[in-house]
Amino acid sequence: MQRLVIEGEKKLSGELCVHGAKNSALPLLAACVLARGETVLGNCPKLSDVYAACRILSCLGCKCVREGEKVVVNTDGLTHFDVPDELMREMRSSIVFLGAILGRLGKCRLSFPGGCELGPRPIDMHIAALRKMGAAIKEEHGTLDCDVGNGLHGEKIVLSFPSVGATENIILAAVTAKGTTVIHNAAREPEISDLARFLNSCGARISGYGENSVYIEGVERLGGCEYDVMPDRIVAATYLSAGAVTGSEITIKNVRLSDIEAIVPVFEQMGCIVCPYSDRIYINAKKPLKAVRTIRTMPFPGFPTDAQAVVMSALTKAKGTSIVVENIFQNRFRHVDELVRMGADIKAEGKVAVIDGVRRLYGAPVRATDLRGGAALVVAGLGAEGTTEVCDIKYIDRGYENIEKAFSSVGGAVKRIQE
Ligand code: EPU
Repeated sequence: MQRLVIEGEKKLSGELCVHGAKNSALPLLAACVLARGETVLGNCPKLSDVYAACRILSCLGCKCVREGEKVVVNTDGLTHFDVPDELMREMRSSIVFLGAILGRLGKCRLSFPGGCELGPRPIDMHIAALRKMGAAIKEEHGTLDCDVGNGLHGEKIVLSFPSVGATENIILAAVTAKGTTVIHNAAREPEISDLARFLNSCGARISGYGENSVYIEGVERLGGCEYDVMPDRIVAATYLSAGAVTGSEITIKNVRLSDIEAIVPVFEQMGCIVCPYSDRIYINAKKPLKAVRTIRTMPFPGFPTDAQAVVMSALTKAKGTSIVVENIFQNRFRHVDELVRMGADIKAEGKVAVIDGVRRLYGAPVRATDLRGGAALVVAGLGAEGTTEVCDIKYIDRGYENIEKAFSSVGGAVKRIQE
């Protein structure tokens, strides 16, 4: 068991570089299944979820090798169409392999992903869309057995909610289906656009991505390509939050400003000076933080649910009352009790959290209960007086590459301890 030990209230200064996005790398690795031959994914982050996706590729018969920042996938040996239960359980988002495996092999067997630490995670929209496109899907004994018979065909799919995973699965299934698929009310997250651009580089014909309706014209086959994973916008939000809560001045490199347009104004409202440059962003939080108007998490281009917890950590020290409304997941305030242990004044009920800013946070032993909630505790620890010990950091390692090294490089005192 490992823990992070943080000596708080150190000023941060210098430059932090954002690594590749987990939520793009995972669907891109699944998409490799569709590409014949070799694909090279650059800027691929070293995260436990990425390693889990590579293990799934190996189980399917692909070769998957890491070479520094790159992951090289060769699908010549791809023959298996089932994902073992333990790998499905390791990473809920492995459901995105469904559309890709069906598209390539016409069959797929995997276990139902079930709920997770954020609450129920149904996949009804994924299944309904794939059925409409011609897949026969049996759900029995916790397993999904899928077969496309004579192949998938293009369809008009209207999503009742712009689900990121459902949009990705439909795109993956549609790229080699017969005819054209249209997804209305598609998710518009930048990771969807990254997936579409990657698939187009492999020979797919996808347009409209990043907008409400995505059009996918089926092609015969895809080939490998070289592609760089986009930078992680939630890691960028985490670094901004760390700068704010410690009253520091830092520059964050490898950021795409268009991806964080809903996040930057929140820091400006807190009283920080934020200067965006073409691929970097500077934050100066030397003035005391102020509370913000209500933050509502929404599908992109709204404020991202994944940034809610880390921004809340900064708000715990912002003078006045801030309100956060979580609209995407049912159970995404589990970090609140841990922040309260550190002296934060937060009341959460249902979808709403009310944060009354305190002058000081105090270091305490706390537990990460999910990925972003865990990162929020690290952010709070950086801004707290004394020592914070975060346990269960396996959650944090799912989405942050060497978080202790990143913060230590700008003057934070964060150590990983092996028990
Ligand atoms: N939903 C349904 N039915 C479905 C699909 C989704 O009811 O068939 C519901 C979900 O239960 C949830 C909401 O719709 O309440 C949004 O789910 P969505 O499908 O958009 O999310 P996801 O694809 O499961 C991805 C990210 C999450 C991120 C969400 C929202 C990956 C691997 N995961 O999940 O990232 O919070 O989109 O932006 O891309 C994280 O990185 O910490 C994380 C949880």
